[in-house]
Amino acid sequence: MSLLTPVTDDSMPLFSASLISPEVQSQLPEGYTIRPLQRGDYAKGFLDVLRVLTTVGDVTEEQWNQRYEWLTQHNDQYFMISILDSASRVVGTGALIVERKFIHNLGLVGHIEDIAVAKDQQGKKLGLRIIQALDFVAEKVGCYKSILDCSEANEGFYVKCGFRRAGLEMAHYY
Ligand code: ACO
Repeated sequence: MSLLTPVTDDSMPLFSASLISPEVQSQLPEGYTIRPLQRGDYAKGFLDVLRVLTTVGDVTEEQWNQRYEWLTQHNDQYFMISILDSASRVVGTGALIVERKFIHNLGLVGHIEDIAVAKDQQGKKLGLRIIQALDFVAEKVGCYKSILDCSEANEGFYVKCGFRRAGLEMAHYY
């Protein structure tokens, strides 16, 4: 999509819905849906879900729309998903960012980021479904692996999702 054609449709998916696993959709609780991020998710509580993870700040709708517009220009690299409950509120989210390498024969690596499930919705396997959905996208777009950083407290969750400890995270904050 070109910069000259800004997204104005609040319900247009960030990326193709064909990348959403039908199996994951069928395993959600009754009335829940999983789909690519939409611009209209701002009004459906997307940022409040992220607040269970960390500080979000006061992001205005205009700032959201600008960021969303940028994401649509990079929708072969940024795959963000939302889970909505039967009242169409966002209750879970996660992101897959696809890194394009020279090594491993121009390999693609998936980075799983910003997994969050609303406090009152935790324990319903929504976190697991988010990871399964992102794994599905990663495989479909050709990643040879996906990696993530997490706290010790969340290790057990990711082990249940099929991940295993590999290496050590280091950070340099600016
Ligand atoms: N430690 C060990 N096991 C766990 C944990 C944990 N912290 N959390 C869930 N599990 C287990 C569950 O008991 C369940 O096990 P079972 O299959 O034996 O019943 C399995 O993992 C799946 O759990 P879900 O119900 O899918 O988990 P939930 O929907 O509550 O989501 C999540 C888990 C995403 C960690 C949620 O608690 C959350 O949003 N926490 C706050 C934000 C956060 O820490 N996000 C992860 C940041 S790391 C990153 O983004 C890469």
